[in-house]
Amino acid sequence: MSRPGFHPPVEHPGRVLVMGATADDPPPGIATIERVVDVSFADSEEELAAGLPETDVLFAWRPRSTWLEPAWDRAGDLKWIQSASAGIERLLFPALVESQVVLTNARGVFDEAMAEYVVALMLLFSKGLLGVLERQRRREWEHRDTETLRGKRALIVGVGSIGRAIGRRCGELGLVVKGVGTTARPGDDVFRSIAGADELSDSGGWADFVMDVLPGTPTTTGVFDAGVFGAMTPTTRFINVGRGSTVDEGALVEAMREGRLAGAALDVFEDEPLPAEHALWDLPNVVVSPHMSGDFAGWRETVVELFVDNLRRYLTGEPLRNVVDKTRGYVPS
Ligand code: OXD
Repeated sequence: MSRPGFHPPVEHPGRVLVMGATADDPPPGIATIERVVDVSFADSEEELAAGLPETDVLFAWRPRSTWLEPAWDRAGDLKWIQSASAGIERLLFPALVESQVVLTNARGVFDEAMAEYVVALMLLFSKGLLGVLERQRRREWEHRDTETLRGKRALIVGVGSIGRAIGRRCGELGLVVKGVGTTARPGDDVFRSIAGADELSDSGGWADFVMDVLPGTPTTTGVFDAGVFGAMTPTTRFINVGRGSTVDEGALVEAMREGRLAGAALDVFEDEPLPAEHALWDLPNVVVSPHMSGDFAGWRETVVELFVDNLRRYLTGEPLRNVVDKTRGYVPS
């Protein structure tokens, strides 16, 4: 075994199916497990349905595919699913949630990259970089003052590991940082205070930057609605690196058109890819990016390392890392 720390299993080696990759284009580094487990690949709904009956462990390399639910009744031997993403909403269909199958995710892998991405967006707004590029294209020399981040107020909605990484960076830049969690609780070294989900509107009115880091679960659907956007101030910037399903996009478009918000940077959308005719593409002070905030060069290798470590744990009977509470839809802190 080439990877240090991988201890070969003693007895039943297990059969691993990689969903969303092929033997010709496998996740980088996956060959490290091939000497101790059987590895096969499924790159379509049909291939998944054919491979599932012979599968103990599913490595969901493309966890946002919709292939698993229709094939679920063939998953008789399946014991554990490792998701290559942090968000696992497509895997949380009722039959899987109710089953004994353990689900783990990639919590932690993307935190720092996402925090940097959010800081980049905050700087883009506060330093007026959209205007810089626009004026450069017009060859226009127009001096302007810029804003500083120090002393500004950041509200981070979703206080799991990604939210905490963003909060830490904001704190380092001198922002005052508050969080919104499921329930209100005392602050800590990252968040000055943490409000409950029912206080989102009041908290939004306090902030200069509102960061949406929510997972896609039934309870987070559409929480950023007209009421919440209406409570924000005309200088607020809204940044979404959580899930598109958490935002009522119609209400956001309306709020931007009416100047009730100063800007929005959106990395995730109700429908992805964002349809070409969608109003969000063209609105001034709206930044659209294609669900990439966490995807630093090297994330694939890092996710495979996490899977290999979890597989070692699975085979030797140790507790797995990042076990999702399937009812709540995330890994409890
Ligand atoms: C994730 C994502 O959930 O990429 O990991 O959005």
